[in-house]
Amino acid sequence: MNYLSVENISKSFGMRVLFENISFGINEGQKIGFVAKNGTGKTSLLNIIAGNDKADTGNVVFRKGLRIAYLPQEPDLDPSLTVEQTIFDSDNPILKIIEDYEHAIENPDDSETYQKAFDAMDAHHAWDFETRYKQILFKLKLEDLHAKVGNLSGGQKKRLALANALLTTPDLLIMDEPTNHLDFFILK
Ligand SMILES: Nc1ncnc2c1ncn2[C@@H]1O[C@H](COP(=O)(O)OP(=O)(O)O)[C@@H](O)[C@H]1O
Ligand SMILES: [Mg+2]
Repeated sequence: MNYLSVENISKSFGMRVLFENISFGINEGQKIGFVAKNGTGKTSLLNIIAGNDKADTGNVVFRKGLRIAYLPQEPDLDPSLTVEQTIFDSDNPILKIIEDYEHAIENPDDSETYQKAFDAMDAHHAWDFETRYKQILFKLKLEDLHAKVGNLSGGQKKRLALANALLTTPDLLIMDEPTNHLDFFILK
């Protein structure tokens, strides 16, 4: 199954040409690495594939409904939050579904709203979200849910951002400079 097709894309900054007319495809199940010296355009290419930037020429065609998660080289996390609060502060759509369900339980007389919220929980496999985030954090060696992000090491922060990315259950996970976080996928 084809996830996305990159067709003849080029990118320049001013006079500096990073790449010209690159084409390739990404299919389900593939693990692809871009290897190049610093400053040659890896991040720029990933930003285009992730949909955060536009190519100067060409197109990136995504499979309809494809869910992409992007783990940037320097994740932007709030240092004042704890590990667990960071999970609940993310923009994962499942959080809204859980919140709606919790409101619905508080107003049991409105059975239609309750049923809708219940069905959404089913449809998005939201019932086991708590188990899943705890499992993922544990596997990523972030066992202390109450540790402050500001006190985490660079590697721990990156693993926390990876946890948030994985919790969106993406079809395609894009990681910039993943380094040792690849261990997670061997453990899985
Ligand atoms: N927004 C930008 N404006 C101008 N130049 C940029 C911008 N982003 C990246 N560059 C330049 O493009 C080149 C490639 O950067 P980047 O894609 O970050 O490379 P890599 O990730 O391979 O280290 C660098 O020389 C960088 O300075
Ligand atoms: Mg880079």
